[in-house]
Amino acid sequence: MSLSVPIVIGFVNQKGGAGKTTGATHASVWFKRLSYSVVLVDADGQQSSSDWIKQINSSMESEDSWIPCVINSDPEELFKLIPELKQKYDIVIVDGPANIGEVTKTILFRSDLALIPSRESFIDLRSTGKILEYVAQAKELRGGLPIAAMYLNAVKANTLVLKDAEGALKNVIVPLLKTMIHDRTCLRDASGQANTVFEMRGTGPKAAAKSFDSLFKEALRIFSNG
Ligand SMILES: Nc1ncnc2c1ncn2[C@@H]1O[C@H](COP(=O)(O)OP(=O)(O)OP(=O)(O)O)[C@@H](O)[C@H]1O
Ligand SMILES: [Mg+2]
Repeated sequence: MSLSVPIVIGFVNQKGGAGKTTGATHASVWFKRLSYSVVLVDADGQQSSSDWIKQINSSMESEDSWIPCVINSDPEELFKLIPELKQKYDIVIVDGPANIGEVTKTILFRSDLALIPSRESFIDLRSTGKILEYVAQAKELRGGLPIAAMYLNAVKANTLVLKDAEGALKNVIVPLLKTMIHDRTCLRDASGQANTVFEMRGTGPKAAAKSFDSLFKEALRIFSNG
């Protein structure tokens, strides 16, 4: 994959439990495994992604495999910090909080690519309206940035299919990625096991890893095409 780095990727959605932390942590490990230099910015006061990454780091034999993380949920500081990190690393991943305040705005002002996970229920999809308004404002001010895309997370088999979701998201300004992440026990368990599905064994983790691989590739294709 040829990628023009550095890239700041923000995982945002004001809705709690959408999958921001799971997405941000998996993206950090995915890029690291592709030999990019990666830093994770945990901008959520709950500090779940930094805890998770620290545990992953401590299980690594070599410090070369560590993913540094920075915890900061102050909007003014983040505004300065993200570009500084962008000068030092290929990939800056930012895990956003479950609210629509200044931190989320700052992430959208500083991200090149904004990924918006959403659960598949109609209520969750409709609730993304607020974050999409913010994305639209940022795009207007920044001449089209961040490039943004939504994706469905924790999709249960035989429930809403992509077409229905597309219907619910009619007239929305960002594309919905074709790749979705299914509801999987291994993803529910991953943070507790201080791991990502990329290292976990078994058919479930293997399938989940494949989905994340497709998801990030699809998002980067959209990003590269502007
Ligand atoms: N695809 C999935 N399959 C199964 N469980 C999932 C999946 N994605 C996330 N989860 C679980 O759902 C919960 C919420 O996910 P996560 O913490 O990633 O969301 P979040 O958007 O970061 O939440 P918050 O807004 O509270 O920070 C977690 O317990 C996580 O393990
Ligand atoms: Mg989170």
